[in-house]
Amino acid sequence: MHAVLVLNGPNLNLLGTREPSVYGAMTLADVEARCRDYGRQRGLDVTCAQSNHEGALIDLIHEWGVRFRAGQALGIVFNPGAYTHTSIALHDAIKGVEPLPVIEVHISNVHAREAFRHQSWIAPVAAGSIIGLGVDGYLLALDALARRAAGLKT
Ligand code: DQA
Repeated sequence: MHAVLVLNGPNLNLLGTREPSVYGAMTLADVEARCRDYGRQRGLDVTCAQSNHEGALIDLIHEWGVRFRAGQALGIVFNPGAYTHTSIALHDAIKGVEPLPVIEVHISNVHAREAFRHQSWIAPVAAGSIIGLGVDGYLLALDALARRAAGLKT
């Protein structure tokens, strides 16, 4: 089993009650359970974490960078929430653990929303970005990591 971290940033703990017309009705616990099940079926051992604190997110990225270098982790699926649009520190953290693949996920289509959501500091250092496909985006990102693990990435 390949270890993967599904990491959620600020305010994503409010999924289910937060702007359901934008983010849907599933709670974070629902999404995490789905990710664990979906991952297991694809040979991934999914760990889930969420924090509202930038430094805590950075610490987790560093920790998984060490695991990746030791050959004990495959990558991170990361929804950085609003830090996407503000955090050069998260950009640097991801850059600092290269080549650990980090796949950026946004539930909503940030490009169809306010202009301040159009800039991502994460996209330039992400292995890829999945945007606007609802909470299915997490599963698609897991698929991408599973394909890498199986040597199927083209
Ligand atoms: C989000 C989009 C961000 O702009 C917003 O701040 C979030 C959630 C998304 O998943 O669509 O918190 O990352």
